[in-house]
Amino acid sequence: MSSTAPIGIFDSGIGGITICNEIMRLLPNENILYLADSKHAPYGEKSKKEILDLCIKNVEFLLNKDCKIIVVACNTATTNAIEILRETYPIPFIGIEPAIKPAALKSQTNTIGVLATKGTLSSALFTKTSEKHLKKITLLERDGEGIVPLIESGQLESLKMDSLLKKQLQPMLDQNIDYLVLGCSHYPYLIPQLKKIVGPHVSIIDSGEAVAKQTQKILAQQNLLNNTARLGTHTFTTNIPSTVLRQFLNPNTPNTFVEEVDF
Ligand code: DGL
Repeated sequence: MSSTAPIGIFDSGIGGITICNEIMRLLPNENILYLADSKHAPYGEKSKKEILDLCIKNVEFLLNKDCKIIVVACNTATTNAIEILRETYPIPFIGIEPAIKPAALKSQTNTIGVLATKGTLSSALFTKTSEKHLKKITLLERDGEGIVPLIESGQLESLKMDSLLKKQLQPMLDQNIDYLVLGCSHYPYLIPQLKKIVGPHVSIIDSGEAVAKQTQKILAQQNLLNNTARLGTHTFTTNIPSTVLRQFLNPNTPNTFVEEVDF
C-alpha cells in the first residue's frame, strides 16, 4: 500500500465533513476521498442489516479507489457495522462513537445528555461503551429524529430546526445536565444554535478531533503517513446533486474537487 494513497471517509451524507475538516487540519498533506451517501440518508432510521449493506457498498467504492485507510465518519455506521467491516476487509478502519467517557469524567452534576440517532442509541456497541463509563452518572438519551434530513436539505437555521432542537433538549435541561454529547457527525453544524438553547452552563462535546488524532496515530503505526511536502487533494463525491454539499465546503481550501457519481 502506498502512503500517497487517499484516506477514504464516508458518511450517510454531509455530516462526516465535520470529521473530514478535523483530519484536513491535522494532516494537510493527505489526499482525501470523501463519500457522501446522501441518497440513502438518514441511516439512523434504518435496520442494522440495511446500515451494514450500505456500509459495504461505500467501503467497496473506496477500496476500488485504492484508499489506504477508511474513516467511518458516522456514529450510526460505526456502532452498527465497524466490527464486521474490520473482520471483512484487510485495511484499517477508524470509527466514531459518542464521546460519553470524557463527558462522564468531567460532569459535576453527574448528569449528561447524548443526542444521537435511533440507530446509534439502540446499538449493542453504544450500550456496551455507555455501561463501561457510567458508574455514577445518569445518561439522558434523545434521538434526533428529523434533524439529519433538515441538515441534508440545508435548513440549518430554520424555525423547524429550532423547535425540533428545543423539544429534544428541554427534558435534558430540566434534569440539570452539564454536558451534552453530540453523537452524530451531522450535529456539529448546529453548535451555534445548540449553544443558544443550552446556555453557558452546559458544555457541548463532539468526537471530531479525537477521530483525526486516532487516524494520524494508526497511519503512523502502519507507516502510511503521507510525508510529501505538498498539500493534499480533497475530492468530495456525492450521489445526489451537489448544491447543498458545496455550501458546506470551505471555499478557501485549495485542491478541492466535487464529483457527482451514481452509487
Ligand atoms: N451522520 C451520521 C451519524 O453520525 C448519521 C446520520 C443519519 O444518516 O441518520 O450518526
